[in-house]
Amino acid sequence: MTQAISNAHIYAARRAHLASQLGEGGVAIIPTAPERARNRDSDFAYRHDSYFYYLTGFTEPNAWLVLDATGRSTLFCQPKDLERETWDGYRLGPNAAVAALGVSAAVSVAELDKQLPQLLENQHTVWYPFATHKGLETRVDGWLNAVRARVRFGAQCPSQQRDACGPLDDMRLVKDAHEQDVMRRAAHISAQAHIRAMQTSARMLRAGQDVREYHLDAELLHEFRRHGSQFPAYTSIVAAGANACVLHYRADAAPVRAGELVLIDAGCELDGYASDITRTFPANGTFTGPQRDLYNLVLASQDAAVAATKAGARFVDPHDAAVKVLAQGLLDLGLLRKAKHGNAQDVIDTRAYFPFYMHRTSHWLGMDVHDCGSYVAPSELGQTSERKDPVSGETIVNRPSRILGEGMVLTIEPGLYVRPADDVPEAFWNIGIRIEDDAIVTSGGCELISRGVPVVASEIEALMRG
Ligand code: GLY
Ligand code: MN
Ligand code: MN
Repeated sequence: MTQAISNAHIYAARRAHLASQLGEGGVAIIPTAPERARNRDSDFAYRHDSYFYYLTGFTEPNAWLVLDATGRSTLFCQPKDLERETWDGYRLGPNAAVAALGVSAAVSVAELDKQLPQLLENQHTVWYPFATHKGLETRVDGWLNAVRARVRFGAQCPSQQRDACGPLDDMRLVKDAHEQDVMRRAAHISAQAHIRAMQTSARMLRAGQDVREYHLDAELLHEFRRHGSQFPAYTSIVAAGANACVLHYRADAAPVRAGELVLIDAGCELDGYASDITRTFPANGTFTGPQRDLYNLVLASQDAAVAATKAGARFVDPHDAAVKVLAQGLLDLGLLRKAKHGNAQDVIDTRAYFPFYMHRTSHWLGMDVHDCGSYVAPSELGQTSERKDPVSGETIVNRPSRILGEGMVLTIEPGLYVRPADDVPEAFWNIGIRIEDDAIVTSGGCELISRGVPVVASEIEALMRG
């Protein structure tokens, strides 16, 4: 709560910016997330809706923001209730909300169905996030019906509905100084957690202990929480040995063995912002020869992607730079045979690298780990070209990928995943490697905010000896 109070001006400025885009007679309705049952009467830990938080800084459930084009904002929130607060915790309540959050008015959420038709009456367009909140469309229909019932008294009913995600996604895509600061802190905590997991793995193996993936997961959680992170930003991946080749593997109970690699993809959420880091390290602290060769190739591809990340470049440029390095490296290391696959450009043109590298290199990062924001600039949406996919033969419509701007935040996360196959040298089988960092785009390049944990093989080995 103190968060919202001390930063109330930030959220007020965002509301004003959104209001300026609603057009005359526009009203935006932004609900927060529902509470969700896990089983019987236990709920999942509550997490607010990102759009709602972006505009209010308010983290209680059962809350709605209604904003009109004049900039008037109404918060609907849980009323004070001593009994409920005894069980569930403190509620800000409407009376305190106006001063704490800087909204124009605040009322009990029990008033929502009564007041929404009044707030929509004589307005032109109702904006809300499309396909985001189950049942919201039906509720909007109900409020509009209530306005329509008053048409014979001279009321005007909004005649347009528009998706609020459009303007909000564009706003959220560029992170302001406050957001960048929180994201730096989140990434720093996550980096410390990765170091802790690496060192625990080596120490336990040196001591002859049975190490399981969940032991390392526990270290991550410990480090996240002890620095004030509220949750992991997504389900942590702690994948030992061959499990690293399963892209969405979760920390389970598999043994962590000396001689194998461990891939950890884990990041904390801090004050509503995600971090997203992957490191791959030798369980006992020393890379074998083939592991090191493959690791250094992935690292070189990440270096190339980082060098391609700067304001003015396209979103796809880091991916293309990474693929170029990986294609050449796969040929050089013999995972792809030159006699069969030709040169690096042939490998790219035929997508022959795809069995080893099947995901993209980047995604936006922010409040959500796969953050919102179109990967095509709205102004360039219409510029299409077609190509045939070399593997599936399908026709793919290409649109120009987004031009990166200062303050956009993206991950840079190339990888290689080698499954056993007859035409692949056995020394590389079951090795999965990904290296993922978080980058804030700057004018001349990017700032890697997750490098509190090293990526160079010898530096990882050194810290694991400690
Ligand atoms: N941790 C999810 C991702 O890297 O996209
Ligand atoms: Mn990621
Ligand atoms: Mn990740």
